[in-house]
Amino acid sequence: MEKHNDILHILIDRETLSKRVDEMGKQISKDFAGKRPLIISILKGSWIFLADLIRAMDIDADVDFMAISSYGSGTNSTGEIKLIMDLNRSVKGRDVLIVEDIIDSGLTMDYMLKLLKARGANTVTIATLLSKPSRRKIQIPIDYVGFEIEDKFVIGYGLDFDEKFRGLKDIAVLRPEAYQN
Ligand code: IMP
Ligand code: MG
Repeated sequence: MEKHNDILHILIDRETLSKRVDEMGKQISKDFAGKRPLIISILKGSWIFLADLIRAMDIDADVDFMAISSYGSGTNSTGEIKLIMDLNRSVKGRDVLIVEDIIDSGLTMDYMLKLLKARGANTVTIATLLSKPSRRKIQIPIDYVGFEIEDKFVIGYGLDFDEKFRGLKDIAVLRPEAYQN
């Protein structure tokens, strides 16, 4: 992919991402040994992470998808969570592993935890590639974090700004001028 003017700098390069995702996959496989988790990937940001994570795992797992939106087209959460696409199977009695791209305010994950518990999941575990702890509005228990990052808007490796940049192989910081007008 060509270098874009809206990119300030690379924050996490592809080799570092790959190594960390492999480690996470191995750790998750160990922790879920003998179980068959139901992986729920939160669309759309997490599918590239999921694709690499699941290939780093060596246990059986089911995969399903949910689409949640907490953002308009800007870089700041509206705080309003919308369920855009639901699962097509039951979570009742299942050990659920949520796979998320980034946890920012925590509102999306708080919503997911409550929803899945209300639907009767046996356990709910969270794996996120990125976390911005300084942005948290609500504290949630995160079981696996790839990288903790500062309060910068990042793109690439599945993460978008206004639906662009998902295909970048590295995680990069978006130039503030790109979204502050
Ligand atoms: P939360 O509900 O505020 O934790 O928002 C989480 C969601 O906001 C993530 O799943 C992303 O879709 C989006 N998001 C938060 N920060 C970023 C970012 O830096 N780049 C791209 N998307 C982000
Ligand atoms: Mg997301």
